[in-house]
Amino acid sequence: MKVFIDSAKINEIRQAKEWGMLDGVTTNPSLLKKAVDDLVKKGKKLDIESYLKQILKAVGKKPVSLEVVGSDYDEMIKEGLKIYKIFNGVSKNVYVKIPVNPCLDGSCSKATDGIRAIKYLSDRKIPVNCTLIFTPEQALLAAKAGAKFVSPFVGREDDYIREMNRIQFGKEEYYPAKGVKKLKKIMNDNGIVSGVDLIKEIRELFDIQKVKGCEILAASIRNTRQFREVAIAGADIATLPFSVMGNLLSHPKSEEGMRKFTQDIVPEYAKLVGLKVGKK
Ligand code: E4P
Repeated sequence: MKVFIDSAKINEIRQAKEWGMLDGVTTNPSLLKKAVDDLVKKGKKLDIESYLKQILKAVGKKPVSLEVVGSDYDEMIKEGLKIYKIFNGVSKNVYVKIPVNPCLDGSCSKATDGIRAIKYLSDRKIPVNCTLIFTPEQALLAAKAGAKFVSPFVGREDDYIREMNRIQFGKEEYYPAKGVKKLKKIMNDNGIVSGVDLIKEIRELFDIQKVKGCEILAASIRNTRQFREVAIAGADIATLPFSVMGNLLSHPKSEEGMRKFTQDIVPEYAKLVGLKVGKK
C-alpha cells in the first residue's frame, strides 16, 4: 500500500519526504486554507501559484492532487484544465481532484456533473482523483468514467454513522471496523457499517468487477489503527495527516526496549562497531 500525506503544508510535506515514507500528496480546499492561514499568521507574503509549485517540486514525480472548487460541470472542467495547464509542467505529477457529486444540497439537479467532468478530463489524459466517495456505487461509476484514484472518506463515514445514531465522539476517536451494535442491530449507512467497511466493500466490488486502472485511496484517516485496517481491507493507497504519519512507528515497548539496549552496550562491542561511547 502506498502512503500519501494529506496536507498542503510544505514543511509537513518536506518532513514526510525526509522520513522516506512519501508516495504522494493529497490536498483539498480545507487543507489549503489551513496552510494559507499558517503562512498569513507567520506574516509571510502569499503567492499561491508559486507556493503550490514549490510543493510540486519538493514531491518530485509522485502524484499530487489539486482540487477544483467549482460545483458544476462547466466550472469543474474549466478549472481542471487550468490547474493541469498551470501546474503539471513543474514535475508532471498533477492529479485533478473532482467531487463525485458536486451538489451542495439534495435538491440539486447536477448530481452527474462530477462523473461527466471526470470523463471529460480522463478522455484528455488528465489523471483524476475522484473525491468525497461514501458508497461503493459512487466509486464504481467514478472508475468507469476514468478516474485513476477514488477517495472514500473513512473517518467521515464513521462520523456519519455515529451522527445518525446520536452517538457523541471525538474526531480522532477509533471506531470499530466491524461496526457497533445498537439494540439488536449493527449501526450502518445503507449496509456500510464503518469507514473501513466502505474500503472493504469497494475492494470487493472492484475485484469482482475486474476494475482496472483505478486505485482505492483511503482518505479521512484519523488514527494509526485505521491505517492498519484500511491496509488489511485492501486499499491501494492511504493518505494520512502529518500527525498520524508521525505516530505510525510509535510503541512504548519499542522505546523501553531501546532504552534498555542502550544502557547495556558493552564498550568493547561499541568500539568494534564504531559507536563512540556516550554518543547516541
Ligand atoms: C481528503 O481530501 C481528506 O482525507 C480530507 O482531509 C478529509 O479528512 P477529515 O475528514 O479528517 O477532515
